[in-house]
Formats: sequence, structure tokens, C-alpha cells
Amino acid sequence: MKEKIRCAVLGLGRLGYWHAENLAAKVKGAKLASVVDPLAGQAEKVARELGVAAFSQFPEEVMADPAIDAVIIATPTSTHAEMIKLAATHGKHIFVEKPITSRLDLADELIEVIEKQGVHCMVGFMRRFDPAYAEAKRRIFAGDIGKPIYYKGISRDPGSPPPEFIRHSGGIFLDLSIHDYDIARFLLDAEVESVSAHGRILLHDFMQEFSDVDQAITYLTFDSGAAGDIEASRNASYGYDIRGEVVGTEGTLMIGSHKYHDVHILNAQGKTHSIVPAFPQRFRESYLLEMEHFIESLRKGQKPSVTQQDGRAALAIAIAARQSFEAGAAVSLHTPTKPEDSSVV
Ligand SMILES: NC(=O)c1ccc[n+]([C@@H]2O[C@H](COP(=O)([O-])OP(=O)(O)OC[C@H]3O[C@@H](n4cnc5c(N)ncnc54)[C@H](O)[C@@H]3O)[C@@H](O)[C@H]2O)c1
Repeated sequence: MKEKIRCAVLGLGRLGYWHAENLAAKVKGAKLASVVDPLAGQAEKVARELGVAAFSQFPEEVMADPAIDAVIIATPTSTHAEMIKLAATHGKHIFVEKPITSRLDLADELIEVIEKQGVHCMVGFMRRFDPAYAEAKRRIFAGDIGKPIYYKGISRDPGSPPPEFIRHSGGIFLDLSIHDYDIARFLLDAEVESVSAHGRILLHDFMQEFSDVDQAITYLTFDSGAAGDIEASRNASYGYDIRGEVVGTEGTLMIGSHKYHDVHILNAQGKTHSIVPAFPQRFRESYLLEMEHFIESLRKGQKPSVTQQDGRAALAIAIAARQSFEAGAAVSLHTPTKPEDSSVV
């Protein structure tokens, strides 16, 4: 087993910073060797804060450094393809934030180069590592709810990310619902056959400029005979609301809660508790657990459990959802493992 995996984090924004912090201080077997961000002063600031020896404004520099074993790509979605190609051709193992990229032809090119270069690639679907979702998977596998027949997902952000993020995000289906598309495949152990999606701007008019919406719903059918619906919203004024439900033939399983602290206040106003404010608080532990899995897999020379193929499968569903939303009709994914030939039905 390799003693240390020397890593570089690319992109030090909302999420890259957490990955850098975890790698610098918490992930066994990892050495954070470099941080990169083109924003003037950002990489230097983070390097100083986290005690990282090297920093750069140029991803090409770390890609060319033979001492780096793996790169963590937390740059805007529109740059993922370029970063993955660079990393793979330089023989670096890759952890890439979701979505793997925004187009299926690009995803196929990336998969080809990843596989040709023999590097490992993990996609950051952290819900699979979240203790609640992971327990749900174990209970489904143990047969506790019988055969899973329906997935319901609710993903509500407390507001919209800034316009600059939305511009590069690929839209609500690709950016937000993709977490549910992946976790639904994972929990139901099934592939999506058809997608119907709807959406509307309810509050954030600026999204018109990016042809995006702040409220969406996706209805899915699966090759196992199961079905599901997924709500995505940027309008939850009360906090960050992530919940799931899997209905089985012998019971149902509810995942997640609004509760931030496990404390209830009982007073004249009734019974209250604080609500999870945003994704770092809800998924902080999952970001650590997924990174531990990535590093542990590389140290053992093994493939991580969430691969480029999972990245592609969730992307295909997101693209079909977008097509369905635009066409106002259901879209079928003919061959779940090669879903680029999706068509409006
Ligand atoms: N898994 C999750 O829960 C989750 C949550 C938020 C974001 N994300 C994903 O993480 C990625 C980044 O999102 P974010 O919210 O952190 O964005 P952000 O805008 O906060 O940060 C992106 C950072 O990348 C930097 N950057 C831009 N181009 C770069 C390049 N070529 N090389 C290196 N750095 C570059 C920017 O300067 C910025 O600091 C997106 O793909 C997003 O989908 C995932």
C-alpha cells in the first residue's frame, strides 16, 4: 500500500476550500502538496492558511509536476472537461466535482482518455457517503423494505448561488438534480429508462439570461419497474432542505431531516429546532468521507466506488431532463449504459 498520495486541489471556491482543508489536515494517507486558483491571491491565501508548500494560478503547472499523484478538480463545471483531459494525459488520478462535464460527447471523450491513460477517476457524488444515505442503502440491501419501487427526492437550496455561478453551472437539472439522479440509481440499483421534466422561475428573474429555472421537477421510470420524482428548488427561504424517501413493497424508508442541532425548544411559540443552513453544514462529513475513500482507494491501487461511468450515467439523465423540459415531452433513454441516443417520445 502506498504511504502517501500527493494531491493538488484546483479551484478554491465554495467547495474546493473544504476539500483542501480535509486533505491538509484530516485525510489519512494524503499530502496536500499544492493548491491552484487563477483568482489573484486566492491560492497564496489558502496555501498560507492551510500550511501548503506550493501554490499557483496555473493548473498546467501542477499537471506537469511529476511529484503530484492526484488532482482534485473543484473548478466551475464548464472547465471540468479541460481539467480532466489535462490531468489524465499527465497520468494524474482524478477526483472531479459533479457533474463530470456538461455534454455526453465530451464525457465519452473523457472516459476514453481516462481509461487509455489507466488513471482512476472518482466523481464527487458525496451523498453516497453521507451516513444517512449510506445506512438507507444498507437497509435496502438487507431487504428491510422489500423491493424498492419508488424514489422521492427533495433538494431545496436556501437561495440561488450567484449569477456568475449559474452562468457556468449548466442549469438546475445538471447542477442540483444530478445529486438525486445519482442517488436514485444507487439506492434503487436500477437504470433510468425515461424522464419527464418541468420547471419555472418563481423568484430569481436573473436566471432568464441563462435559460435556467429556480424550481424544477423530474419524473423518472427505471428498468427495474420502479419510478420516482425529484424536486429541485433554489427557493427555500427557511434553510437547506435535503430529503429522500424510498418506498418498498414491505415498507418505506425516509432519509434526512431539517434538523441542524438535535435540540428542540419548547416555549409559548410551540416546539422548534434550528434548520440546516446550507450544504457545507449538511454534507461536511460526507465531503470528508468521500475524500477518505478516494485516497484509500488510490493507496490500495483500487478503483474508487463512484467512477467516470457513474458520472456519465447521471449526466445522461440530466441532459434528458433538460431536453424534456425544453420539448414539453417525455424523453426515453434507450440503452441505459449508453444513453446518448435519448429521444423525445
Ligand atoms: N458536491 C457538492 O455538494 C457541490 C457543492 C457545490 C459545488 N459543487 C461543484 O463544485 C464545482 C465548483 O463549485 P463552487 O461552488 O466551489 O464554485 P466557486 O465559483 O465557489 O469556485 C470555483 C473556483 O474555481 C476557480 N477557478 C476557475 N477556473 C479555474 C481553473 N481553470 N483552474 C483552477 N481554478 C479555477 C475560481 O477562481 C473559483 O475560486 C462545480 O462543478 C460545482 O458543481 C459541488
